Amino acid sequence: MDLRIYSDYKELSKEAAKLIMNVVNANPTGLLCLAAGHTPVGIYKCLVDFAREGKVDFSRCKFVSLDEWVGLGMQDEGSCIKFMHDNLFNPLGILESNIAFFNGQASDLELECKRIDEFVFKNGPIDVVLLGIGINGHIGFNEPGSAFDAYSHVAILDEITKEVGKKYFPVQRQLEKGLTLGIKHFLEARNVILVASGAGKAEIIKKTVESPPDTSLPATALKLHNNFYLLLDKEAASLL
Ligand code: GLP
Repeated sequence: MDLRIYSDYKELSKEAAKLIMNVVNANPTGLLCLAAGHTPVGIYKCLVDFAREGKVDFSRCKFVSLDEWVGLGMQDEGSCIKFMHDNLFNPLGILESNIAFFNGQASDLELECKRIDEFVFKNGPIDVVLLGIGINGHIGFNEPGSAFDAYSHVAILDEITKEVGKKYFPVQRQLEKGLTLGIKHFLEARNVILVASGAGKAEIIKKTVESPPDTSLPATALKLHNNFYLLLDKEAASLL
């Protein structure tokens, strides 16, 4: 585990963006899996700036979805697909043909998971996975108890995830399930970056750093990866 602590969110975002940029510059046709959520917003701003400055070109990269709320789609504020389009894909001008995203409104969710798995097997391995962490230790929608050897699957959302997830939605949502890449995808990726910011993440970061790999805390699975970067700002690292 490569643990790096930065003075603030701005520096954390810039350094995480640089890591991703370096991966893309080494393989401009690579496959990327980038998380939705509040933590990576600053990273995506930096990536868009880097692209506009001509430092990196994402036009030949492929993008695979990390996770999605079951029932939500592009038209829904708070869906992961809308978030990624608003914050990254549209500002970068990424072609839809280079994006494979979970359809949270698919009629057959198992088949939808298979579709995304097949996309990863065909275009992978994933060059870089960028993850956030839930305060219950989830990564994507791999909730506590998720198997380390699972690929994409339908997840029953943890009570904490449902409660915290309210922050993404302007209107109250009844969300029970998610679609997510599995931990096995992360372990088979070339690089994995987990970012956490703010005092609210300090407790779960302390547990993640101190605990051996254990399914009760999904983020600890990443310690099994040889190229695992844990990037924190000072507040998220304050209990270490
Ligand atoms: C959400 C998502 C994750 C995200 C994590 C942290 O519920 N399922 O993909 O990375 O929780 O989110 P945030 O960055 O908003 O704290």
